[in-house]
Amino acid sequence: MTEPEKTENLSYDTFAASVQRSRELEADIAKNPGRHRVLTGDRPTGDLHIGHLFGSLLNRVRLSKLGVETFIVIADYQVLTDREVFDRIAECTINLAIDYIAAGLDPDGGKVFIYPHSCIPEMNQLLLPFLNLVSIAELERNPTVKEEIEAAKMARMNAGMFTYPVHQAADILFCKSTVVPVGKDQLPHIELTRTIARRFNTRYAEKNPVFLEPQALLSNTPTILGLDGNAKMSKSRNNSVTLKATEDETAKIIKTAVTDSERRITYDPASRPQVANLLEIASLCSGESPEAIAESIGDGGSGKLKAYLTEHLNEFLRPLRTRRRELEKDIPYVRASLDKGITKAREVAVTTLDEVRVAMNMYR
Ligand code: TRP
Repeated sequence: MTEPEKTENLSYDTFAASVQRSRELEADIAKNPGRHRVLTGDRPTGDLHIGHLFGSLLNRVRLSKLGVETFIVIADYQVLTDREVFDRIAECTINLAIDYIAAGLDPDGGKVFIYPHSCIPEMNQLLLPFLNLVSIAELERNPTVKEEIEAAKMARMNAGMFTYPVHQAADILFCKSTVVPVGKDQLPHIELTRTIARRFNTRYAEKNPVFLEPQALLSNTPTILGLDGNAKMSKSRNNSVTLKATEDETAKIIKTAVTDSERRITYDPASRPQVANLLEIASLCSGESPEAIAESIGDGGSGKLKAYLTEHLNEFLRPLRTRRRELEKDIPYVRASLDKGITKAREVAVTTLDEVRVAMNMYR
């Protein structure tokens, strides 16, 4: 018997290839939406912000509207890898579901399924066989996990942190998804997922492959900087406009945005990244190009730019926020939507786990 994992190297370094594949994938999805299934998700740790909206949520909405089945996993188990706080997980799960639905992911159309992964036991069980298909050394090399370990400053490293990418492979593979829309930081996990799928098929299911090798789909939107102008917009850095924020809160946080001392507004991403960031967000909202917005503001300075951004961002978010407030008042609807997602995901997971157990010659 051949042992592919001894010779085949798992490479975490495939960014250029992923960009290229994403473009081809986009074209195929548009042509054959029925042949694809999208799976992606988030950790339920806090409020989604406009970085999530422009970077991933609107892309998911677009894909689901093309008629592609879209599975959205709320990765509640993953939250436990780097924090001990667990008392708000259920609340954050509901909150995240509200953000999703308000952004336009429609759980009533029969195409979008939203569920917490802890509610899908048969999916979780895939972790056990999968753990045997990767080496400790491969897990140790995962660059995203390395960064997270640094960032979490954990006194003692738990094995959950180390192995969550294998669990994430179960998230992705159980439903035979073909497309995984993610940010760049998730590419190592997708690479590992593809490797696990391949190794499973080679080892246990050569004649009748059980798993597909899904592909990452990188978004076209440039990364949105935080309003502090330093790093990516992030839940924990207090440098974001949340979807949930009121119009006044939005105005207030945009006023604090860091710009530069030059009065005249120009669009120059290389030398004026903070101003360019505000112009780009404004452009996403108003549909005008960043250059045209800069031109119209001219000597008005950053005060005028911020006023323009506030107005257009609030206008852009208004329908979403109205829907959000309605959903906050209708938690039974949100729960029923999650129940629908759970039911669908479990149906799929039961079938896949059975195929896996047959392939592995397990007693059943
Ligand atoms: N790791 C992802 C994050 O931190 C969340 C996630 C969990 C995910 N399971 C997934 C993303 C499956 C894509 C596919 O954002």
